[in-house]
Amino acid sequence: MADLAGSDVVPAAVVNEAEQLSAELTEHSYRYYVLDEPTVPDAEYDRLLRRLMALEEQYPQLKTSDSPTQRVGAPPLDAFTSVAHEVPMLSLDNAFSDDDMQDFERRIVDRLNYKGEIQYVAEPKLDGVAVSLLYRHGVLERGATRGDGRNGEDITENVRTIASIPLRLRGRGEHFPELLEVRGEVYLPKAGFEKLNEQARNDGGKVFVNPRNAAAGSLRQLDSRITATRPLEMAAYSVGQISGWFGKPERNVDQTAVIEPATHYEMLMQLKAWGFLVNNKVALVEGMDACLAYYQMLSKERDALNYDIDGIVYKVNDLALQNRLGFVARAPRWAIARKFPAQEMMTRLLDVEFQVGRTGAVTPVARLEPVFVGGVTVSNATLHNQDEIERLGLKIGDTVIVRRAGDVIPQVAGVMLDERPDDAKPVVFPTSCPVCESPIERVKKTISLKTKQNTRYETVYRCVGRLSCDAQLKQAIVHFVSRKAMDIDGLGEKVIEQLIGRKLIRSPADLYTLTKEQLLGLEGFAEQSSTNIIDAIDKSKKVSLGGFLFALGIPEVGVDTANRLAEELGPLSRVKEADKILLKYVEGIGGDIAEEIVNFFSDVHNGHVLHQLINRGVLITDEHAVSQEYKVKPSLGSVIKELEILYVGAKFSYALADKFDVQGLLSLDIDCLDQISTDKGTKLGDSARESLLEFFQNTHNAQRLIDIERLLYQWGAHWAERDVEADATAEDKALSGKTFVITGTLPSMSRVEVEELISKAGGKVTSTVSSKTTFLLVGDKPGSKLKKAEKLGVAILDEEDFRGMI
Ligand code: IVH
Repeated sequence: MADLAGSDVVPAAVVNEAEQLSAELTEHSYRYYVLDEPTVPDAEYDRLLRRLMALEEQYPQLKTSDSPTQRVGAPPLDAFTSVAHEVPMLSLDNAFSDDDMQDFERRIVDRLNYKGEIQYVAEPKLDGVAVSLLYRHGVLERGATRGDGRNGEDITENVRTIASIPLRLRGRGEHFPELLEVRGEVYLPKAGFEKLNEQARNDGGKVFVNPRNAAAGSLRQLDSRITATRPLEMAAYSVGQISGWFGKPERNVDQTAVIEPATHYEMLMQLKAWGFLVNNKVALVEGMDACLAYYQMLSKERDALNYDIDGIVYKVNDLALQNRLGFVARAPRWAIARKFPAQEMMTRLLDVEFQVGRTGAVTPVARLEPVFVGGVTVSNATLHNQDEIERLGLKIGDTVIVRRAGDVIPQVAGVMLDERPDDAKPVVFPTSCPVCESPIERVKKTISLKTKQNTRYETVYRCVGRLSCDAQLKQAIVHFVSRKAMDIDGLGEKVIEQLIGRKLIRSPADLYTLTKEQLLGLEGFAEQSSTNIIDAIDKSKKVSLGGFLFALGIPEVGVDTANRLAEELGPLSRVKEADKILLKYVEGIGGDIAEEIVNFFSDVHNGHVLHQLINRGVLITDEHAVSQEYKVKPSLGSVIKELEILYVGAKFSYALADKFDVQGLLSLDIDCLDQISTDKGTKLGDSARESLLEFFQNTHNAQRLIDIERLLYQWGAHWAERDVEADATAEDKALSGKTFVITGTLPSMSRVEVEELISKAGGKVTSTVSSKTTFLLVGDKPGSKLKKAEKLGVAILDEEDFRGMI
């Protein structure tokens, strides 16, 4: 068959197969994107697509413009060409209240002299970009933006990449209209927007203010291959023009004959049958009361939808009535847009203040000229951290866009740079804590990736004052007394502030030395309320270990993690002593949380507070109970694996544990490494040998392993047998959990080869460097990714290092 490549003759069997594949892929895509009811797994879709691509490569004649392979984008354009809309794309009048809606209906009733209830179609007003799609004999010919309503831009290549836009209508070709213009909204679902922005933040790229801007930016790319990477969707909401169709009955999916639609709703159903996505909240409503009820219903659902809507469009359903009503100026009389309260508003940034949280994180907070947004008056918004201020390019005095959706904390989403006043002042980040004047530091995090030590910085600055900082102390106590922690009733923020102000407490442990007399001295306290609080404090001593661990406020440890730590590792002494590796055997605890726990308990100040708490009678129940059985029993092989010795993956870790005990590992020499081979007979490579010897000669590493073994014995556990199941999956998965990014040209391997090797070994390849990247594999002429990786402290490998690992 290869001989025929490029020839004019495509064997009938191949034509058949390609047609079959094309039909199947179109159907799967329709089910996935339009009906949201996928019937095959993604992998199956990919398999079919690859097969079709292979056939089309061999026989380019098969590559029709409506082939499912043609959604990847085309070579970039120099500019968009202008297109004229034969039927202008109009806009809608707005209604902002129920009264406005009543007025709208009164105008219709008067004009038509109508008796009875008018039927409307209510449609979510999707917040995206309006497009027009032209189909000739059922095949997508042109896509255009709305532009000024008369002239738009030709974005055919871009719309072709959108999976929910049919390249060819569904159904039997002979019944397609000669010409069909479908109009609808292209939008970016919220999840896609978040993902896009996260990527942009990691790459230092352009961050979008909201999903609508992101959709507009994605659609107006001269390089449609970029559009293809954006998860855009399109919902059809009307027909601009249609000709050469009426009178020819089409059959829809239900095999019922479709006659010429007499209503807008029927038209929408016809669009659905042709393969367009029609929003699933679209509903027929009878009369104005039902319109208003629909508004109430959708207002409640708004935040839970996975796309942004800014209102509801109501359209008179009967097309004959629409016709009679006609248009006024640039909007139809038969439709109106009822707007929701805006979720974004502009206001002025009056100042930036800095708040100190429980863990000392210094957070900038925007003080705003009060503005009504998302249904409430907002005068403060979080700015997250200094990076965010820099990213926004914010200055005091700026006009900013404030966004508040649902119950989410108000955000400053963007800055109107054009409106910056001359006297705008830069935001100055404090160099010491605004509450206690202790130094503030950008926290260094040492991460060990195999033996390569790397340092990276957190994005937040922290006050180093800990409990000597009143702000941190207050938040620590608020957390400590909260219901899921020590559950001490009656100690609200105001009381805690007074206790701190009067220097009655300097740590959570001091709550247990408070007296009734001291409380009586506080504002608003009487005999009974003081007694109640003292009793509540006393009662809290009988806390569960999980509640206690949560109360301590270990960073990253929430209620669930605290409870699991207690259940799987408790009593407290074991949690305190555990090595990072042993902590990771507790369900739900990964490397980062384990590190936070170890850091917490190795800190002297924390140790002191813990000691005081226990001395003052807290945690009598669990801690003095007979020691529980230690349930987690790791195998030596899995612990070696967790040590992350450079070039030594899972299979060699298990092989080492088969041959040596801890003592043996500590006295490894080059000869005994010869005895090591995996179940499949693979021997250790040179880099791995060198790395192993170096690793165990390091006293810190040696001591760590000795300590882990000692702890296990002390806790009544011994090394578990080699875990056959874990081992079986480990065999081929030397890189599981590792994420790679590749940059530059490697000396002897192609990118595809490397990607294949990584994925075979259980690793993942992504295209952007982020804090989640484990390794950057660097070749010749690396791009900006190298700088980014260095900045983030991502381990950097060359081809040789990489070969060693696999
Ligand atoms: S109908 C003449 N229906 O809202 C009728 N528009 O101001 C014109 N929009 O630019 C539009 N969802 O892009 C209609 N279900 C919907 C819509 C919708 C969003 C947008 C449309 C237009 C703007 C109208």
